[in-house]
Amino acid sequence: MRESGPHDLVDVTNRENLETVVDEYDIDTIYHMAAILSAAGEKNPWLAWDVNMNGTYNVLEVSREKGVTRLFVPSSIAVFGPETPRENTPQDTVLKPRTMYGLTKVSGELLCNYYYERFGLDVRGVRYPGIISYKTPPGGGTTDYAIEIFHEALKRKDYTCFLREDSTLPMMYMPDCIKSTLDLMDADLEALIHHADFNLAAISFSPKELADEIRKHIPELAVKYEPDSRQAIADSWPKTIDDSAAREEWGWRPGYDLAAMTEDMLRNLRTQYE
Ligand code: SER
Repeated sequence: MRESGPHDLVDVTNRENLETVVDEYDIDTIYHMAAILSAAGEKNPWLAWDVNMNGTYNVLEVSREKGVTRLFVPSSIAVFGPETPRENTPQDTVLKPRTMYGLTKVSGELLCNYYYERFGLDVRGVRYPGIISYKTPPGGGTTDYAIEIFHEALKRKDYTCFLREDSTLPMMYMPDCIKSTLDLMDADLEALIHHADFNLAAISFSPKELADEIRKHIPELAVKYEPDSRQAIADSWPKTIDDSAAREEWGWRPGYDLAAMTEDMLRNLRTQYE
């Protein structure tokens, strides 16, 4: 990344810092990916509020003020809560999350849509499911068991999962995550009815289903299940998502299923451990 172009560090909670960097590099498009995720946000709700709310507000304000032409602000399946239908969760439905992360994401979606309606700022976003990557290590998410298990399977052939074996959650492999982000950012504005709150889906599976898939490659893998406080978060999120708005408005189609993702993850991670 650092070799691919100019590189600088920005603190999203510092508005002047953002303004300076947008001016210095004459930035016209922003992907605002900084956030404190669900489990990390329950450990430090004050930091989650500051980074997720004030950070997003600063990015929106600086974008409006500096005439940024297009802005991406991701949301998450964490916007849903226990009252939301958990199967094939609709695009427009009950949004009453119980985590600090979730409530900052609902507010972020509303704020982004407000900036589009009120100021004409072209801000777009999707509700990411759990993202699985061989490059990015687990980072405080409830869905991060699905990354940890690959590392432990290769290192020790043994993993203790912090969710129950039947906790089905919506997930997505990183190449699909990047493709969805770029596809939405490339879409014609006129074709969009929604803006910063698209449901997005690829694969849904439980820890047991993932372990069984990994065992096709590493048969000795042993998995224990010891649910902790993250189980309550997982239980409040959907199992499957209806992403027909994304499919209709900007042609979203995922490329990886569970088998293809598992094979690719193991192939790439093996080189780190061998
Ligand atoms: N991966 C995120 C989390 O678990 C969900 O957006 O917090």
